[in-house]
Amino acid sequence: MSELNKIALQILSEGKGILAADESTATMSKRLDAVKVQSNEINRLLFRQTLFSSLSMKECIGGVILYDETIRQKTSTGKTIPELINSSGSLTGIKVDTGAKILAGSIEEKVTEGLDGLRERLKDYYKLGARFTKWRGVYSISNKYPSDLSISSNAHALARYASLVQEAEMVPIIEPEVLMDGEHTARDCLNKTSRVIRRCFEELELNNVDLSGIILKPNMILPGANSNEKISNEEIAELTLECLKNNVPPTVPGIAFLSGGQSEIEATANLNKINIKNDTDFILSYSYGRALQQSALKFWSKDINNIAGTQEIFDHRAKMCTLASQGKWSENLENKK
Ligand code: 13P
Repeated sequence: MSELNKIALQILSEGKGILAADESTATMSKRLDAVKVQSNEINRLLFRQTLFSSLSMKECIGGVILYDETIRQKTSTGKTIPELINSSGSLTGIKVDTGAKILAGSIEEKVTEGLDGLRERLKDYYKLGARFTKWRGVYSISNKYPSDLSISSNAHALARYASLVQEAEMVPIIEPEVLMDGEHTARDCLNKTSRVIRRCFEELELNNVDLSGIILKPNMILPGANSNEKISNEEIAELTLECLKNNVPPTVPGIAFLSGGQSEIEATANLNKINIKNDTDFILSYSYGRALQQSALKFWSKDINNIAGTQEIFDHRAKMCTLASQGKWSENLENKK
């Protein structure tokens, strides 16, 4: 078993998942504005260190993805944030892309940038304590999108990123996110997500990436946010598994879904159903941002010094997600806090 494979398994073993707390300062400011908390370095640190010192970190959270600002911050007791994360047995991850920019040649679409100087930045992040990384490719979906250009440009960037990350002895999270916005059906989402993922693996193989040392972070297969289609958790699970079985090589050890705008309960219920129906060897877990943090953030915003209360809300959510990644969640557990 390679070192990278061990890290990937450590992050996702025993129902553990990933806390995606890597919102860029611009995105975090949007989230804080929405709950009327001032977005400054101190408040961003306070919310995040509140989560990272929660009890559930030990049992539920195998890894935390940070943004550049956070990996360099220290708690009031002088611990670095990676040290705080490691103290509960969890691993530190870092978002290393520099964001999705307009794709020249198809200007309604985006391509993710950040390859220039990446080798040097990775060395720095490793020294700061990172053991895994994230890069997000983002794809619009409509009749004409994603275009072949967007599919191939993002796959190329993801694969070059992954290869540099493995060279730096860290596990790359490969995140091709087909957005939920739109009126498309779940079938459309299946077809387009399948093309996107297939292309990513072609490029990963071309770049000699060790597939046993990556984590795939895909979207679930869902109807568009503005579609009239109503489908059950069961159907979502079936379509999502069909997509993964047909397009992800079996050497990949783990898949951690993004929540992508689903509510906390939807993201939990769907993950649970996916695990109940899982007939693959993949570990199928979560790497949620909003679906782990939303309620905690809302509660915290009412009194930013209520650390214990905020942690209780976060712990509950993390526990529910961890049960879902083992197919052991049920809706009535939501009320037994
Ligand atoms: P969401 O779970 O809020 O979609 O965030 C996950 C993520 O890391 C997006 O890049």
